[in-house]
Amino acid sequence: FLHISAWAFDIGSIIATTTTSVLSRHDFPPGFVFGAGTSAYQVEGATAEDGRKPSIWDTFTQGGRTPDKGTGDIASDQYHKYKDDVKLMHKMGLDAYRFSISWSRLIPDGHGAVNPKGLNYYNNLIDQLVSYGIEPHVTLNHFDIPQALQDEYEGYLSPKFIEDFTAYADVCFKEFGDRVNTWMTFNEPNIWTIGGNSVGMMPPGRCSYPFGVNCTKGDSTTEPYIGAHIILLSHAAAVHLYRTTYQEKQRGQIGITLLGFWFEPMTNSPQDIAAAKRTLDFLVGWFLEPLVYGRYPAVMRKIIGSRLPYFKENEQEQIKGSFDFIGLNHYCGFYVQDVPKSLDKYGRDYFRDMSAKSAFTDGLQLRLTEGWAPDMKPDGMIVGWGLRRLLDYVKVNYNNPATFIHENGYPMNVDDSSNTASRNDTERIEYLKIYIENLLLSVRNGSNARGYFVWSFLDVFEALGGYTSHFGLYGVDFSNKDRRRYTRQSVHWYTTFLAKTGSRT
Ligand code: NOJ
Repeated sequence: FLHISAWAFDIGSIIATTTTSVLSRHDFPPGFVFGAGTSAYQVEGATAEDGRKPSIWDTFTQGGRTPDKGTGDIASDQYHKYKDDVKLMHKMGLDAYRFSISWSRLIPDGHGAVNPKGLNYYNNLIDQLVSYGIEPHVTLNHFDIPQALQDEYEGYLSPKFIEDFTAYADVCFKEFGDRVNTWMTFNEPNIWTIGGNSVGMMPPGRCSYPFGVNCTKGDSTTEPYIGAHIILLSHAAAVHLYRTTYQEKQRGQIGITLLGFWFEPMTNSPQDIAAAKRTLDFLVGWFLEPLVYGRYPAVMRKIIGSRLPYFKENEQEQIKGSFDFIGLNHYCGFYVQDVPKSLDKYGRDYFRDMSAKSAFTDGLQLRLTEGWAPDMKPDGMIVGWGLRRLLDYVKVNYNNPATFIHENGYPMNVDDSSNTASRNDTERIEYLKIYIENLLLSVRNGSNARGYFVWSFLDVFEALGGYTSHFGLYGVDFSNKDRRRYTRQSVHWYTTFLAKTGSRT
């Protein structure tokens, strides 16, 4: 009952916000950053151009992993169109553009020589952004590792990765740090290592047979934990380097971006409440707890036992506090129900059938309501309150760190400009409004959120959906050889929301 009345109250305050005035950026505190984002492999294309060599994501897509068997070879062709894209960003009024650097373009072999043409590309992109007054918010790693490092030592499964990642970060800080003030080390390592090494659905596509489809043989029971551990150490090493060598002079900030969905207990039963908390610990606490407190969540240590690596004392010290902000990618919420003995809805022992005790199954012995944003409309509404609960959870449990909502957006399956439904993306507008309203309520309620980025600035090649699932504010005609951009309604909506001259009462 308490739950229900809290929701009713929440909904009441949202309505109060929306009916008295039009939502605008001026409702937010001064300095709150609004932007939109993409990532290198998902937009650049030009994968074999100007000295770039393959990354694990190139290799992964060669196997035809997405529904349309697409690859990022051309993607949205931003490598050739960045100048015009930045003009579109400017027209829309973005404060910031969140993008990632392709390690394979900058240091094609993973370590060693820097590729001058790669350097040139990112210098040009950054200069173009700066000349239009748009802040570059740069992710160093977004699911792509040079294939050479995967071949040499299995990428993030080896401690050798730490040194190579730090050297790569060093090049980025040194070359771009005079103009880039906001850095993210990794994007969503908390889903990447599961996707990449437990279920084999993301690069590098490894798993224990027969759990995934077409995956390379790995060990789902240990690899996600080892990978996450090495990523945390790599993150901490890069932050240490930044803080000791660059930060003061460049006056920047550095953090990491995590997947942050919300998990709500299906009922008030202690089992469901514990299951929802366990899910949050296994997905979000997995990284946040070491970053804030220098250790893994107790429930993970208990369930995973010796398969979970541990931090040495000096490592604990280096990881603890190694961020100026935490980025959260939030798309939707799920209801969580505990599943005793891991039986699925057909009464099968789902997890044992899969014969893989993976990161997924260790912590997530539960049933999630299914569906991506469009299906997540309990009581007919998109679950915007999930974002508020997430920010509250971070505030209460992790000392209210500075946060950025680094991704929030709405996928559609209609992608062609000739399709009016694709241009008139009113559902996306409704979604964005609801989430931004909820973000505003969080800020008013003391959350330390500093910015918000729509995913995505334009249609991109999707990790799971290929070219069938489109999040873009701007559309891209992927069937058109020139990857023509077109304006969706949501561009107009965001432009109005961002208008600098808009006045607020
Ligand atoms: C998370 C990832 O960071 C991004 O690469 C992906 O395209 C979006 N979510 C949407 O699926």
